[in-house]
Amino acid sequence: MAMDWSRDEATVAVIGTGAMGRGIAQVAAQGGLKVLLFDAASGAAERARAYIAEMLDGAARKGRLAPAEAEAAVARIHVIGAMEDLAPADAVIEAIVEALDAKRDLFRQLEAILRPDAVIASNTSSIRIASIAAACTNKARVAGMHFFNPVPLMKLVEVIRAPATAPAVVEALTALGKRMGRVPVTVSDSPGFLVNLGNRPFSTEAVRLAMEGVASPAEIDAILRDAVGFRMGPFELMDLTGLDVNFPAAKIMYDGYFQDRRLATWPLHQAMAESGQLGRKTGGGWYAYDTDGKLVPQPTDAPASATPAAKLVLAERDEALSKLLLEAGAELLARDDGASPIVGAPLGEDASTFAARLGLDARRLVCVDLSGNIAKRLTAMRPPGADPAAVAAAVSRLAQTGAKVTVIKDSPGFVVQRVVAMIGNLGCEMAQIGIASPADIDLAMKLGLNYPRGSLEMVDFLGGARRVHEILGRIQAVTGDDRYRPSLWLRRRALLDLPVNTPD
Ligand code: NAI
Repeated sequence: MAMDWSRDEATVAVIGTGAMGRGIAQVAAQGGLKVLLFDAASGAAERARAYIAEMLDGAARKGRLAPAEAEAAVARIHVIGAMEDLAPADAVIEAIVEALDAKRDLFRQLEAILRPDAVIASNTSSIRIASIAAACTNKARVAGMHFFNPVPLMKLVEVIRAPATAPAVVEALTALGKRMGRVPVTVSDSPGFLVNLGNRPFSTEAVRLAMEGVASPAEIDAILRDAVGFRMGPFELMDLTGLDVNFPAAKIMYDGYFQDRRLATWPLHQAMAESGQLGRKTGGGWYAYDTDGKLVPQPTDAPASATPAAKLVLAERDEALSKLLLEAGAELLARDDGASPIVGAPLGEDASTFAARLGLDARRLVCVDLSGNIAKRLTAMRPPGADPAAVAAAVSRLAQTGAKVTVIKDSPGFVVQRVVAMIGNLGCEMAQIGIASPADIDLAMKLGLNYPRGSLEMVDFLGGARRVHEILGRIQAVTGDDRYRPSLWLRRRALLDLPVNTPD
């Protein structure tokens, strides 16, 4: 089934010409393919073609595309009036309503119309490809081709391989994706496929932190933006996507993986989704929005108005922490003077556990997270019962580094370690269960979600497999929650001190 997509007559049919179908048709035509457009609603395919013509014309007027190329691409798009006209297609990409029965009906009809060597792909984002293919006699030619919205701007396409999909079909669709100017990754047929699964902890761990009262949504967003480099924090992103989409997606994946605690979400998430405060589309969600739709900012930075503590007690020997505190201009004490704030930088532990383990006076303890871009934002964590004056004096001293400081309540792994280790661990698990190769996992997370790093690269960002394994093990011990149990992929690379992307 080696298809030559550079042939003049190479033809792709797109069925369903809504938001996704028209984007798919556009990039196919721009890639030089002949495109057949079909939609069940009368006039819909014509409207889609006109829309694409307008988009390409706009791009040409802005100088992003040669006018002749725009014209030629539109000329390659043909609206067809009846399903039978799909017969010449080498590949069909289905982008109809997200309903299993409708897709099965369509695939059954397609089998009767298409040549035996034509391939059939669904753009579904939540239905198992195998469930759709169950309606077909020849399941080997059925696969997924999962594009992202808006298609012309999103380079990633997940080529979904169901158990019965022939390797040649995966190859043919990968080549087709490239011809359409996309970057294809091969993904196994599993709930949420790759990107939508890999992104779960970003929102669910953030909601968990908010539910525990560790910090406000705005503070959590600021920490993850500044210290990790996410373009948007999880709460901003949930507001943009809408909680009516984000919460059900969390549930689907949790159930799809048979209640794996790693994918669990929380009552606060559900409460937000059910409150009708769905995000930007309803004028409010985790944030409020003004009448122009602009986000109303909330405080994220601790005031640094107290007199900076002159002396700080080091909770334990820690070179990186000492360096930071000296930069901040503090005099460091190796022994507790009984009065100065005590500073430590635990890994995976909350301040309470850290204080109890080292026998520290928790009332004067402030913990600092040294992971991520601490030149931009520092996270300072206080245990329950901390003396506000000691915390304020330590925070003012930390602010002398020039970084913004956010003060959070007690949390094993602060915010950065917890969220980033969860993303990294799930990336490891995806590699372990063969959802995709480590390289494809990283590529997909960056292209599909604008992540600053891929999931496995997040492990390196926190200091490598050993360190992340240690962080997760401690969070698991502190919370008693299997949610944080390290993936076997991570564990093995930690024990053998190997790079996290070492193949099996
Ligand atoms: P949409 O509602 O904008 O468009 C669906 C189109 O399919 C409509 O024009 C409708 O008339 C047509 N249609 C419905 N049943 C049909 C049938 N039996 N035969 C022919 N045409 C039919 O939907 P959208 O958002 O474009 O989604 C389409 C598919 O893409 C769904 O499976 C969805 O899960 C998937 N998807 C959507 C993404 C998104 O962000 N909207 C992202 C990735 C995948």
